[in-house]
Amino acid sequence: MSTKNDVLKILSQSLDHVSGDKIAKELNVSRNAVWKAVKQLQSEGFNIESTKKLGYKLCCTELPNRDIITSLCDDDVNVIVFDEVDSTNTVAKSLAEQGAREWTVVLALRQTGGRGRLGRSFFSPEGTGLYMSIILRPSVGVDSALNITASAAVAVARAIENLTDKDPFIKWVNDVYVDGKKVCGILTEASFNMENSSMEYAVLGVGVNLSSPKAGFPDDISNIAGDIGLDVSKRDLFTARIINEFKGLYSGLGEKLFFDDYKAKQMLMGKAVNVIKATSTRSAVVKGLDDECRLVVEYQDGTSEALYTGEVSVRESK
Ligand code: BTN
Repeated sequence: MSTKNDVLKILSQSLDHVSGDKIAKELNVSRNAVWKAVKQLQSEGFNIESTKKLGYKLCCTELPNRDIITSLCDDDVNVIVFDEVDSTNTVAKSLAEQGAREWTVVLALRQTGGRGRLGRSFFSPEGTGLYMSIILRPSVGVDSALNITASAAVAVARAIENLTDKDPFIKWVNDVYVDGKKVCGILTEASFNMENSSMEYAVLGVGVNLSSPKAGFPDDISNIAGDIGLDVSKRDLFTARIINEFKGLYSGLGEKLFFDDYKAKQMLMGKAVNVIKATSTRSAVVKGLDDECRLVVEYQDGTSEALYTGEVSVRESK
């Protein structure tokens, strides 16, 4: 990596002032080389503040910053940033259809038609959220590829732990909760090739509420939606952290690298819940998670079921 990229990485990881001396020591280069790298970055449009005694500070941009995210990612990613889209998943799917490569990452400042699971919408205002879709072309079998969503939930939880003081939990199947509120939703969509039973591509969509909108969340979600309390200036850092964590887990989809954390972070263990199906809602108690990531519940009549997918809500105690 060049000194310029190394300097950018250090500044974007701190997002506060870092002295030229400290950067020089860390990179084992002269302070003059750091200064030159900063000048070069400024000429490329990076807003780097230079303050006597304090050093350099990378000021946040309103839009997710492609170069910062790319420089913070461990491996090669192709980041595309939009001001506004209907849904980053929809954009990513159409790019995937046109042959876009794996690890193309679509980000938007806001979504006008953010989509959630089960045909729901995902509230996606500007300035308080992260909206990202990643194109994947899994080489593993379909069974293993189905672990993408669970791996992503673990990656998001780890990134939250890393950058905030919050303690995230995963609400089966794939929502991430903090302090009893949903802070992240994940929607994975895939295209299958029926001829050879393989997955042509998958689009992993992740939406995270970094902070709460000034006007609050809309009425229909105000009692369940929460945020992770992360300033938007750290959005690029957080984005790259999720990508890096996810890449590690994705490389071991077949070996279920995600599983131990996914199980340990489950929010519903031992809880009284309602199991909601198309034609019925039944009371149950969550007994555990089996090796296939199915939620094992025991109904009030003593029968058990291992749920493969679906919706479960925590039962309010009277
Ligand atoms: C859910 O909560 O049911 C899943 C929400 C997934 C939202 C993300 S935001 C980025 C990507 N684009 C979308 O339209 N949806 C996903």
